[in-house]
Amino acid sequence: MWPFALALDLQRGGLEPCNNITKRHLSDMRGMYIDEVATEEAIAQGDPLLYEVNQYDVPFETGQLLVVTTIIQPGRVGDEYYMTKGHFHEREDRAEVYVGLRGQGYLLAETAGGEFEALPVEPGTLTYIPPYWAHRMANVGQEEFIFFGVYPADAGHNYGDIEKRGFAKVLVERDGQPTLLPNPRYGVR
Ligand code: PA5
Ligand code: NI
Repeated sequence: MWPFALALDLQRGGLEPCNNITKRHLSDMRGMYIDEVATEEAIAQGDPLLYEVNQYDVPFETGQLLVVTTIIQPGRVGDEYYMTKGHFHEREDRAEVYVGLRGQGYLLAETAGGEFEALPVEPGTLTYIPPYWAHRMANVGQEEFIFFGVYPADAGHNYGDIEKRGFAKVLVERDGQPTLLPNPRYGVR
């Protein structure tokens, strides 16, 4: 391999060139928001795009790094802010760094043992997600929330555990403010 450069659009989150783009709509996240009625209504009304992931793929080998931007739209399902699916890494001992580029968000992180952390992220906030911590980002602002990430290319994504049990807390709007509440369905999916 040879060193290379990409153009990272700090305002819009694009990577150029980019060889792996994923778009997630609400129908890709059935069961992940607490309000199932609001979920089905929004899917029926057009199935909104919640976020887009632009990743520059290099070989998924030990020693390589993947660079990625994520653009989460503003909005809520019921009271719950638009968010990423969230995952543990398949190789759980792989860490990750997220850097806020635009908008206002939150990192939610937790371990299999039940430790939980939530950190506000704004442009210039660098969050470090240690090995063994599942991670999810949510957009709590009025505009797109855009962040950059970098992680080991052999990490992989384990979505299943979060699909089954969720995160310990949910991030909802209460009196216009982002508020963490215990997840009523934690672990019972
Ligand atoms: O690897 C990461 O943690 C990120 O690039 C995420 O994959 C991205 O933010 C989208 O989130 P998720 O993979 O949980 O849908
Ligand atoms: Ni990750």
